Amino acid sequence: MIVEGKVVVVTGAGNGIGRALAERFARDGATVVVSDFDEQTMNTVADGIAAARRRCDVGNAQDLHDLIEWVEADIGPIALMCSNPAIFGGAEGGGLDTSEETWERSWQVNVMSHVRVARQLIPRMVERGGGYFLQTLSAAALITSNSWMAYTVTKHAGLGTAEWIMLNYADRGIGVSCLCPTAVETRPGQFDEMPDIGLVQTADEVADITVAGLADERFLILPNPAVGGSFRKKATDYDAWLERTNGRLRAMGHDFDTAHR
Ligand SMILES: NC(=O)c1ccc[n+]([C@@H]2O[C@H](COP(=O)([O-])OP(=O)(O)OC[C@H]3O[C@@H](n4cnc5c(N)ncnc54)[C@H](O)[C@@H]3O)[C@@H](O)[C@H]2O)c1
Repeated sequence: MIVEGKVVVVTGAGNGIGRALAERFARDGATVVVSDFDEQTMNTVADGIAAARRRCDVGNAQDLHDLIEWVEADIGPIALMCSNPAIFGGAEGGGLDTSEETWERSWQVNVMSHVRVARQLIPRMVERGGGYFLQTLSAAALITSNSWMAYTVTKHAGLGTAEWIMLNYADRGIGVSCLCPTAVETRPGQFDEMPDIGLVQTADEVADITVAGLADERFLILPNPAVGGSFRKKATDYDAWLERTNGRLRAMGHDFDTAHR
C-alpha cells in the first residue's frame, strides 16, 4: 500500500500516533482526511497539513457511518482507512473491578469500530478492485502484560477481526495491517514514572515504521522488535510463557488486585 495520490482517512488524528500518521501520509502525497472526536486538536492537525477534516467519535456507529459516507461522496473513494483510537482503561483500577460501562465503551471503540468500517467499506472496495485497513492495536493484542483487562481483551479481539478479514477477503484485493506498538510517548513525560518500561518510541518513529510496513503489506507491524520474539516464545510453549510472565509481573510487584487501590 503506497499512499501517494490516494484518499487516506485517519481517525484519532488529533494527537499521538494518529497525528504522526496523518502528517506522514500528507508528506507522502496522500489526500488525507483528519478525524478526531476533539474538534480543537483535529483542526490544529488538519490546518497544519491543509487537510479535510470531520469530527467523529469512532465508538459511535452513526458518527463513523457518516464520516465514511461524507469522505466517499465529497473527497473520493477511501483507499486506506486507519482506525486508530482506543479506550485505554476506565476510572477504575483496570482489573476485575472494571465497570460494565468501561467494558461496553471498550468494545465499541476498540472492536466494533473495526467491524463497522469493514462492513461499510469492504463490499465497495471489493467492487472497485481493492482497499486497505490499518488498525492501530497494541503489543497487548499479542502478548498480555500488565495492561488493563478490558484493553487487553478488546485489543485481542481487534486482532481477531483483522485476521478474519484477511482470511475471507485477501483474495479479493483487501489488505489489513495491524500496528502493534509497545510504549510510544504521545504526551511529554508520559513514561517518566515507569523506569522498567523498556524501549520508548516517538509517534513520528512509529509512523515511519508503519509506512514501511504498509509498503510491504505486512499483516503485523511491530515497531518494537522485542514483541516478535515474545510472541514467538508464547506460540512455542504457551504454558511456559504464562508461568514466566506471571513470575515477571509478580517480581515487578504488579498486582491488579491492589495496584490501583
Ligand atoms: N501510546 C502508546 O504507548 C501506545 C502503545 C500501544 C498502542 N497504542 C495504541 O495507539 C492508538 C493511539 O494511541 P495514542 O497513544 O496515540 O493516543 P493519544 O491519546 O495520544 O491520541 C489519541 C487521539 O484520539 C482521539 N480519540 C480518542 N478517543 C476517540 C474516539 N472514540 N473517537 C475519535 N477520536 C478519539 C483523542 O482525542 C486523541 O486526539 C491507540 O489505539 C492505542 O491503543 C498506543
